[in-house]
Amino acid sequence: MMKEKRTGFATRIGAIAATVGSAVGLGNIWRFPYQAGENGGGAYILVYLICIVLLGIPIMMSEFIIGRSTHKSMKGAVEQLTPGSPFKYFAYVGVLGALLICGYYSVVCGWVVEYLWSSADGTLLGHTPDQYGKIFETFVGTPQRCVLWTLLFLVLNFLVLSRGIQKGVERMANIMMPLLFVLLIVFCINSLLLPNSGKGMSFLFNIDFDELGWEGVVDAMGQAFMSLSLGVTCLITYSSYFKDENSLMKDAVTISALDTLVAILAGIVIFPAVFSFGLEPGSGPKLIFEILPTIFQQMPGGTIWAVLFFVLLFFASITSTISLSEIPITFMIDEYKISRGKAIIITAVLMTAVAVVSALSFSTLSDVELFDMNIFDFLDYVGPNFFMLLGGLVTAVYVGWILKKEVIHDQLTNGGTRRSRFVQPFIIFCLRYIAPIAIVLIFLFYTGILDAD
Ligand code: PFF
Repeated sequence: MMKEKRTGFATRIGAIAATVGSAVGLGNIWRFPYQAGENGGGAYILVYLICIVLLGIPIMMSEFIIGRSTHKSMKGAVEQLTPGSPFKYFAYVGVLGALLICGYYSVVCGWVVEYLWSSADGTLLGHTPDQYGKIFETFVGTPQRCVLWTLLFLVLNFLVLSRGIQKGVERMANIMMPLLFVLLIVFCINSLLLPNSGKGMSFLFNIDFDELGWEGVVDAMGQAFMSLSLGVTCLITYSSYFKDENSLMKDAVTISALDTLVAILAGIVIFPAVFSFGLEPGSGPKLIFEILPTIFQQMPGGTIWAVLFFVLLFFASITSTISLSEIPITFMIDEYKISRGKAIIITAVLMTAVAVVSALSFSTLSDVELFDMNIFDFLDYVGPNFFMLLGGLVTAVYVGWILKKEVIHDQLTNGGTRRSRFVQPFIIFCLRYIAPIAIVLIFLFYTGILDAD
């Protein structure tokens, strides 16, 4: 039986750590600050936090319920839980979403490797804040360099997966994550001590809805899903290895709280510095790559801080790409009964193709536009805002409306051994009503089909 073949995470900490590894990544440190910067700060962050509590945690729990109750990935799990249900076909959408997201995400991982390299060889620091923006643009505008670092990152990613050493990498990440956390706190203090840091803090925490609009609301919702790794079946796959004794609610709350804390800390590192050095908060995906070197440079021992930070960021990123790559790999093994080696090769080829095209979208392919965006920006938009939100909607409807109540009860109470008097009604209410209605309504407003005025 499937259940016997799976070993499960050794301890609750192991299971949580791997899932935190998936959740904490460039989404928190690169994407959250730049999205908050583009959407005016405070109001975006408020909507983001509401989405984490009312949509993110319940949908994370629903992925856990599907995965842990069956110890299978999406398609097999739905076949077992609700034989004949068409919901199983959603697994294909999850796989496609994971391939596209991991493709463009690897490009940003490549940028991290380039910045790690140039910090280590001493060429990164020593410029003015303005110059860092230009240095970044020159770098991404040079096709060979950008593609090379992306490919290098993907080779490392698939080497880890093919040698079956994810566990080792995750164990390393168990050490790196707390370190990253400590480092972020040091950088926060440093940023708060900069002249004019108060402006950055009020940008982050002053709530002004005029700056947001429906587009910003969709962005905040997509970002919440991106950050928690929701909607592409990743957490179904991971929780299929969870042990039966853990409290799913505690796990989901712990993971979401840690993940959110990292994002907020990243914001407190970035924005006081952005305002202090007179940079533009809405400068988009390049934001952290222009502001971080500026921050490191004014710290004593800047090069060491830079190297340390990019090493830790590299680990945070690779634990996320490993979890994204596992989605198509596990799917192909389960669905087509092929070997893990073959599944890895096919996944690697497909992801590399997406990654190369995304890496070239700032240079050779910069003229190719989809809905007024270059390929990279397009994938960075549709990944979270379409694939993940659609996936979250489907998961919420499936667990809230289709799945037998007993399965949910059994998972939330661990077979009746725990109490879940308030949790279960709250989760079911969110899954049945709040999540589907919020996602659909926000989309209708955003697309202008409904008009708020
Ligand atoms: N949550 C990751 C981040 O914030 O960087 C990205 C991610 C990982 C998204 C795994 C989706 C996923 F399945």
